[in-house]
Amino acid sequence: MENLIPTISKLQDVFAVVGSNESKVQLPQIIVVGSQSAGKSSVIEGIVGRDFLPRGSGIVTRRPLLIHLTHTPKDAKERGEFEDDWAQFEHLPNKCFTDFDQVRLEIEAETDRLTGKDRDISDVPIILRIFSATVVDLSLIDLPGITKVPVGQQPPDIEEIVRNMILSYIENPQSIILAVTPANQDLANSEALKLAREVDPNGHRTLCVLTKLDLMDRGTDALKVLMGQVIDVKLGIIGVVNRAQADIDANKSVHDCLNDEKAFLKKIYPSIASKNGIQYLAKKLNKLLILHIRETLPDLKHRITNAIGEVQAELEAIGSPIIDKKKTFLQVINHFSTSYIATIDGSSKNIEASKLY
Ligand code: GDP
Ligand code: NA
Ligand code: MG
Repeated sequence: MENLIPTISKLQDVFAVVGSNESKVQLPQIIVVGSQSAGKSSVIEGIVGRDFLPRGSGIVTRRPLLIHLTHTPKDAKERGEFEDDWAQFEHLPNKCFTDFDQVRLEIEAETDRLTGKDRDISDVPIILRIFSATVVDLSLIDLPGITKVPVGQQPPDIEEIVRNMILSYIENPQSIILAVTPANQDLANSEALKLAREVDPNGHRTLCVLTKLDLMDRGTDALKVLMGQVIDVKLGIIGVVNRAQADIDANKSVHDCLNDEKAFLKKIYPSIASKNGIQYLAKKLNKLLILHIRETLPDLKHRITNAIGEVQAELEAIGSPIIDKKKTFLQVINHFSTSYIATIDGSSKNIEASKLY
């Protein structure tokens, strides 16, 4: 079952390139949503356990970034097949990145390539794949943050443009929404939760991440919020401590940050420390994703079968293969249908309804 996720990642790439209107297949993915500088990119870095994203104050993330994490088996690594963690971009298929500072630079360069340099945004995604023995299989989408006031070359209706961009991703009923809100703001005013509610009113697929626990006013803490006693988020509210700007500037390692986060949680929130923090969030997400995939398998299979039918009919009508993208699309769909639908049929009998919903 775990093998299902890499194939789903591949399908997402194909759909992202082909354009969502060309297929009606909707796939599970985890989408990070929140106001500008809430800590979205930092949360993703924490989950990945890698320092590789542009982040900081102001609008840094200006194009959607689709990140596919692929777990590489440890024994393969020991046999020398995987020397290091590595990364690859869809737009640079022949280049293998082992220096993650270069990954960050490439994201910045590729962002500027489409948007120009002065803080404008674009809805064309950048697709990045990361291979590592220390990640769980997850697909994450980092999005520009909600912003009210246009700066630089941004259009006057920047707020609406960003909102619509976010909605176009999270309205996918098979996506999981990570609503990122800083702990030093009132959760009741969370832009992320407001947007999530628009597309997921019952909260079946919204998880709240409370960042900046370390930046709360002296004498206040987030215990009640984290325990769901202020606002109830069905799938939970997970508190985290990401790197502060000073940590980034001082090049503090992700590893040291995770240790410091653990120590912080144990000290300030001893009773709930084990159910908070970045590593708990990563585990919870993987579990949610697998449950979500299992739950939506019958519908997914139905949609894929229909999509294959449509593309085949189109091909027959034209009499020859159309463009390359569609050919790739068809090949992946066919591969998916032959090798995975059989697996799904074989294993779906054992799948129980998720206890989380
Ligand atoms: P994004 O705009 O939502 O992607 O936010 P970023 O991840 O780029 O973070 C914005 C700024 O907030 C950066 O300077 C981060 O170092 C800082 N930051 C994010 N999370 C935390 C946190 O939990 N604690 C502290 N102290 N700073 C944080
Ligand atoms: Na930012
Ligand atoms: Mg960001």
